[in-house]
Amino acid sequence: MAAQCVAMISALLSLLSSGAGWLMSVCWAACLWLFSPLPLAVIAVTLYSLYYYLTKDYAFWSRRGVSGPPPKFPWGMKLKEQEAVTEIDRQLYYDYGGKRFCGFMEIHRPVLSLGDLDLIRAVTVKDFEHFTDRRQFIRSEDMRLMLTALRGQEWKARRATMTPAFSASKLKGMHQLCLDNAANLVQYIRDETARKGELELKDCFGRFTMDNIASCAFGINSNSFNNPEAEFAKHTSTLFKPFKGWALVRVLLVAVFSEWFLKLPDPIQPSIDFLKRVVKTTIQHRDQSNSSRRDFLQLLLEARDKDGNRLLSDDSLVTQSMMFLFAGYDTTATLLTYAGFSLASYPDVQRQVQEEIDAVLERHGGQLTYDAVMEMTYLDRVLSETLRLYSPASRLERESTKDYTLPGTNVNLPKGTLVQIPVFMVHRDPEHYPDPEKFDPDRFLPEEKEKRHPCAWMPFGSGPRNCIAMRFALFEAKLALVAVLKELTLQPTETTPPPPMPLDKKGFLTTPQGRKMPLKAVLRAKEL
Ligand code: HEM
Repeated sequence: MAAQCVAMISALLSLLSSGAGWLMSVCWAACLWLFSPLPLAVIAVTLYSLYYYLTKDYAFWSRRGVSGPPPKFPWGMKLKEQEAVTEIDRQLYYDYGGKRFCGFMEIHRPVLSLGDLDLIRAVTVKDFEHFTDRRQFIRSEDMRLMLTALRGQEWKARRATMTPAFSASKLKGMHQLCLDNAANLVQYIRDETARKGELELKDCFGRFTMDNIASCAFGINSNSFNNPEAEFAKHTSTLFKPFKGWALVRVLLVAVFSEWFLKLPDPIQPSIDFLKRVVKTTIQHRDQSNSSRRDFLQLLLEARDKDGNRLLSDDSLVTQSMMFLFAGYDTTATLLTYAGFSLASYPDVQRQVQEEIDAVLERHGGQLTYDAVMEMTYLDRVLSETLRLYSPASRLERESTKDYTLPGTNVNLPKGTLVQIPVFMVHRDPEHYPDPEKFDPDRFLPEEKEKRHPCAWMPFGSGPRNCIAMRFALFEAKLALVAVLKELTLQPTETTPPPPMPLDKKGFLTTPQGRKMPLKAVLRAKEL
């Protein structure tokens, strides 16, 4: 120890006597200045102001007589390390009264957690004019114009422009693109099975949804099955990595303090720039040559006002294409992954799906047409039940745009209050779904659905601000499953957990534990 001290002192002395001596002197002077009265006072005032800013609304809910976890510095509520969002919601729902409603602090911001279905309907549907917006959560300037982030009148106008691109007739135009990607998926599953004996299902479906969005929203073939190192796949995968290190700090600074921090360097900017270049090149190409493709990009490019002017600028088109990726890639891959897991875990359900596929395809001359997919009602129930148990988005959010009093109460929510709807908890509440962890597609028979409150199932949200692409998402998911299940049967491996699937604690979306879903696929002919 003594020898180490001597070595350190002699190193410092030699540094002082060397060219770096001036640096040491500056550091020393800075230290002395820092500990003199004026800077100490500045530091104390800054820390106090920060503390005041973060805690000034801690009495927000108690003043309104709303129950909830006691506010706690610095996160706003007591959190166990690495607690999953669904676990926090479970405590709010059952321990603090959130099954009706309760209030909590999210760092410095008061949030109402709303579990009562009538109140959810009031906020998302009946009194929508008070709740047209979500929290503005953007991590890059390029996201400001995304439909998901727009507010008020701007959102209304943009949503009206984009809605026609998601109609059933427009979907039919994208059917062939999705079908080609589904064929690649099946080939990939067969090859992987031959190579490794088992599949990583999330990866397989991730590649499928990636290719589908690349072809429908960016107008390119990303070819992620054959070349996962291709630029598009590489850049998009960086966008979906969990926030860590500097990226996390930057996002927290933006969320807690100010959007000014968006000016700080963003680690994903090179990937965003790459996507911008892809869309701009495609737009240029299509402007020069009349494209016959009927994908989202083309439909939005052709959206005109009554005087024939384009409704969306190039920049806005670029942003909306990126939004399709952010909103549609992981969500649809997650749905498919849990559907595959549930089918492998419940062989009787899988058999019934396959029988329906065989019967419908026979009626349609073996062709997987749009109408054939729409006739598969049992498959539809299977996906509805998958979305109930494993809704990819575990919460919805609304922000009040005007002062609002919760109906039937005297709880006043001033303009700007955040309301969260714990979808995951509602979907697994035994009062709405008896034996909630059981996978039972017959819960979605028309007569069963009729018995339930319309807000008891909200995987795609609720009211006018719901998922604009619900029809597309369900269609592409069904197409992928039919393409797989008409040839193959999914089975658990030795490492696949029994249902219900345990969930990852860190995921923002409902993610399988370990972010993996190992399964086997066997040829149907071999089963017989
Ligand atoms: C299974 C797949 C999907 C699920 C579960 C899902 C779920 C959701 C949810 C929960 C919301 C919020 C709704 C609300 O606040 O009430 C949403 C919004 C949205 N989703 Fe999806 N989504 C899926 C696929 C897609 C796809 C494939 C796209 C695009 C191609 C997409 C585009 C959007 C957009 C643009 C919004 C914002 C709508 C607005 O603010 O007006 N989603 N989605």
